[in-house]
Amino acid sequence: MYPKTPPMGFNTWNTFAENISDEMIRQTADAMVEKGLLDAGYNYLVIDDCWSEKERDPVTGKIVPDKKKFPNGMRAVADYVHSKGLKFGLYSCAGIRTCADYPGSYDNEYLDAKTFAEYGADFLKYDYCYKPPYANGALLYRRISLALQNSGRDILLSACNWGADDVHHWIRSTGAGMYRSTGDICDKFESFRDIFISQIENAKYAGPGCFNDIDMLTVGMHNRGNVARDGCTDLEYRTEFALWCMFGSPLMLGCDVRNMDDTTLALVKNPHLLRINQDEACRTPFVAQYEGNNLRNVYARLLSDGRIAIMFTNLSDNDKQWAWLALDSLGIPAPVKKGLRLTNAFTGEDEGVFKEYIQLPVGAHDCAVYIAEVVD
Ligand code: GLA
Repeated sequence: MYPKTPPMGFNTWNTFAENISDEMIRQTADAMVEKGLLDAGYNYLVIDDCWSEKERDPVTGKIVPDKKKFPNGMRAVADYVHSKGLKFGLYSCAGIRTCADYPGSYDNEYLDAKTFAEYGADFLKYDYCYKPPYANGALLYRRISLALQNSGRDILLSACNWGADDVHHWIRSTGAGMYRSTGDICDKFESFRDIFISQIENAKYAGPGCFNDIDMLTVGMHNRGNVARDGCTDLEYRTEFALWCMFGSPLMLGCDVRNMDDTTLALVKNPHLLRINQDEACRTPFVAQYEGNNLRNVYARLLSDGRIAIMFTNLSDNDKQWAWLALDSLGIPAPVKKGLRLTNAFTGEDEGVFKEYIQLPVGAHDCAVYIAEVVD
């Protein structure tokens, strides 16, 4: 399965880790539909690590679901998820064991792909722990990719090797539909800031068919769950979500969607930000104004309808920094006398026409995002 725009959904890891169950997955599926997340585009419900028994079935050699967590088996869970109109995702690993020490798929790729297809999977996150040092990472991703393509189901491969081994140079050749390019995120401003900054230069490797996954969102976690550290403010979550949208990352929610507050829900369903993320052209965002240390850059991204998404960032701790952008740096020279009409992506409000330059204050950890139209 080669996605045309960044995949969207929910993944269990950030909040739940090993605390997953049949009941929790069904409740999450219900919540994704009831809260309008599916309608907004979040269609994958992915179970991350810790869903299987600690050892393979001694007779069949298959990875089997944990009997306590999933007493009805995995097919029943997948059927329920599918009945809600969602797609179902599972997790395995290119190594001998998964990162949390469950069976990995190394040397069992074809058997496992078939098993995951039998369980009803539409998505497979594929990690990189316990990979034998002599094994070639690109080859292992190719193996599982071909195994999935020959499993009888259309299964999106989500590679997860944390940006190791120059993955952006070879991942597209493996058939993966998205790939994790960074180490694990945690619920804290500095974590998503540093992860984002590390991928500014790698944005050019992403595009239709294979997207750079900057990691599952911590938006709305509010310091609850597995990767909770200090938590973030709503303003910081807004910046995180806007950065992920601007840079065309897959949008995998990591908070407990069953208990999402209204602010978080409105943010992750924001139609303007999702419009930018899901733009069919998947153009690379570029640095339109560089501020020396990547903390206060201005980014721009050409959209398929001729408009331009513009994002002013202040990832520094200094409040009330003035952001400035010459329209010339977007390709609008002053002598042509054209301007930009700005729609505020957060509020949907028309902020009028700007000529020659845009200047505005941006507070610490905050950002401003606009969709701009060239006008006379
Ligand atoms: C790795 C991945 C995480 C998560 C865990 C599960 O750390 O990067 O996203 O899948 O493994 O053990």
